[in-house]
Amino acid sequence: MSVNSDQFRDVMGRFATGVTVVTTVNQGRLDGFTASSFSSVSLDPPLVLVCIGKDATCHDAFSASGCFAINILSADQANLSVRFSSDVGDRFDGVKHEPWVTGAPVLDGALAVIDCTLHAVHEAGDHSILVGRVERLGPIRGEAKPLIYYRGAYCSVS
Ligand SMILES: Cc1cc2nc3c(=O)[nH]c(=O)nc-3n(C[C@H](O)[C@H](O)[C@H](O)COP(=O)(O)O)c2cc1C
Repeated sequence: MSVNSDQFRDVMGRFATGVTVVTTVNQGRLDGFTASSFSSVSLDPPLVLVCIGKDATCHDAFSASGCFAINILSADQANLSVRFSSDVGDRFDGVKHEPWVTGAPVLDGALAVIDCTLHAVHEAGDHSILVGRVERLGPIRGEAKPLIYYRGAYCSVS
């Protein structure tokens, strides 16, 4: 059965997700993109994954750098989701951040952060699956609410 891409997007959009900004540093250059394809994978060893489009301009930086940080966005950070999925030049311009263990930038105000070294890269159609080994993690804003993405729109939990 062939799958219609509009229907595929429509059906997948009915799976409500959190929103992350995935960041890395490669030879001193910061890169990052908005991603909802984040998942935990394994507890022992601690592994997570995120999928990145092969045509993303930062795709090669992620496979080359050997590290990435998953920044789980808070409900008041929809602006960062838009910024890190748009063509705005330097996406980090005006965005406060600091490195944790791996050197990947951790964004101020994130709900929680998972800092990883790159464990594996798997080919998957027009995306690559980045598997990260967790080196440090933590909630930053324990009381904040998460940003939610559902059917192409941002919302929050009440
Ligand atoms: C809410 C949301 C979730 C997204 N999730 C993903 C994702 O999981 N993987 C991905 O490759 N792109 C995802 N994107 C799109 C990328 O953020 C966007 O295509 C990317 O930043 C473009 O990168 P480039 O300008 O560096 O080519 C998402 C965009 C939004 C708004």
